[in-house]
Amino acid sequence: MSSSRKNPESLRSHRWYGPDDLRSFGHRSRTKQMGLHRDEFVGKPVIGIINTWNEMNTCHTHFPQRVQDVKRGVLSAGGFPVELPAMSLGEQLMKPTAMMYRNFLAMEVEELLRSYPIDGAVLMGGCDKTTPGVLLGTISMNLPCIYVPGGAMLRGHWRGETLGSGTDAWKYWDERRSGKLDTKSWFEIEDGIARSPGTCMTMGTAATMMSMADALGMSLPGASSIPAVDSNHNRMASLSGRRAVDLVWQDIKPTDILTEQAFENAIKVQMAIGGSTNAIIHLTALARRAGVPLDLEIFDRISQGIPLLANIKPSGKYVMEDFYYAGGLTALMKRLEESLNLETVTINGKTLHDNLEGAEVFNEDVIRPLENPVSTAGGTAVLRGSLAPDGAVIKPTAAEKRLWKHRGSAVVFKDIRDLKARVDSEDLKVTADSVLVLQNAGPVGGPGMPEWGQLPIPKKLLNQGVRDVIRISDARMSGTSYGACVLHVSPEAALGGPLGLVKDGDEIELDVEKRRLDLLVSQSELDTRRRRWEPPESKASRGYAKLYADHVTQAHEGCDFDFLQGTPGETPEPEIF
Ligand code: FES
Repeated sequence: MSSSRKNPESLRSHRWYGPDDLRSFGHRSRTKQMGLHRDEFVGKPVIGIINTWNEMNTCHTHFPQRVQDVKRGVLSAGGFPVELPAMSLGEQLMKPTAMMYRNFLAMEVEELLRSYPIDGAVLMGGCDKTTPGVLLGTISMNLPCIYVPGGAMLRGHWRGETLGSGTDAWKYWDERRSGKLDTKSWFEIEDGIARSPGTCMTMGTAATMMSMADALGMSLPGASSIPAVDSNHNRMASLSGRRAVDLVWQDIKPTDILTEQAFENAIKVQMAIGGSTNAIIHLTALARRAGVPLDLEIFDRISQGIPLLANIKPSGKYVMEDFYYAGGLTALMKRLEESLNLETVTINGKTLHDNLEGAEVFNEDVIRPLENPVSTAGGTAVLRGSLAPDGAVIKPTAAEKRLWKHRGSAVVFKDIRDLKARVDSEDLKVTADSVLVLQNAGPVGGPGMPEWGQLPIPKKLLNQGVRDVIRISDARMSGTSYGACVLHVSPEAALGGPLGLVKDGDEIELDVEKRRLDLLVSQSELDTRRRRWEPPESKASRGYAKLYADHVTQAHEGCDFDFLQGTPGETPEPEIF
């Protein structure tokens, strides 16, 4: 961490605003064009507020007001706030998947911060990919910054029952498909499941990644648990704006916070909250940007020692609002204290040890004690074997236990279209012991590795009362989903991974305890299939899709672009002539 304090002349923005030359005259006069006095911006930390808002991102509808709260904080600390809108990744409405645009947002954030006279940043994110997107870009730019999590929406309601985002949608959709839920009830659920601004309120990818940023030390402590519409959220936003100004003067950068120990803490917390499997990909990408090597096995190693304490859907029974009232992330981390690196320094300048001082749990059923966890099984198992030489993951706590060790014959769908066309067919040769396989849904094949990994249970099985079967793909799964879904199989099918060689009837064996996933087909037969294998037709001929397909890395490498990795802050500052 830097020990030197900045002064007005050493601010980055001074290069634009400070010199007595024609270029700086232009910068100052055009900033004054906005009605500002010279002393409102010259010699003050310029704080860029990265606002991932648009009217298609249904989770960020409160951001226009939150920006005002952040600005209030920046101004009160003597900074100059400027709002920088960046691409908003609305998980529900973006197709084929918001994941495809995570790297786009990361590039945009990095270049916004680099190209303008910005000294520090407040990063506003929440809906799934926005959090890793804004953090990735800022890490590479390595400017002082603080993350403001959007916060979760209020709980859903239907006929006196709590509804959880995604999780209960999947549950009741299966009821509807099997004819047990009428149209009136279905529409009532549609009205009641998303009742306020904010992200999904189950422990999906959004809540997980907001918690990860918090556990990494990039937000004010506990900020990730505050519901979006709670007035504490406004206060947190304002305090974050204030803190951003101090961060600039103190020259505290992301690389000062994002150490190996901070990532270990985050992974432990991810296990204890039963976080989304998507976090594995995002944390891997973030760590690589920060210069911290993380391999898949570390997730498994840590997973095995940490019990699931947060009793939140989809692995438990409550929602994020309950989690906040029970003490939130800080209280949960207090429970994990003995397993965490307490000397890590966080964005408020204090150690984790200091931040956890006095944290308390107020509801022992929502945040369980270590001796009475929701589950002792780790949140994530990393599998390897002949079907996934570079790894795959499963969330055992979200799967029926009888399926943790299973052998069955494959029912293969060559892509998502094939799946949609045949999965509910009466002719589908499938039993409760079958293993459903979806090919060509990975980073390149999807493209963008969509959340198709929770393959629907075939109607034929639903009607027999079957609610879970083994499903294997190179796709991801929504953090709000559940089921015996093996995800992120690497290398992916579209690049010639073994997943692309599987045929109907092949025997597949899953053994969660032994961390194995094997295709029980002889090597000679696989060699023959490989010689005959042809890649699927590329869906990317031009533009961003082409850039994505040409440069995205595999799931176990974080799905970052190969050319975006590198040392933080290594790109030279722009020349000013
Ligand atoms: Fe935005 Fe779930 S759709 S967080």
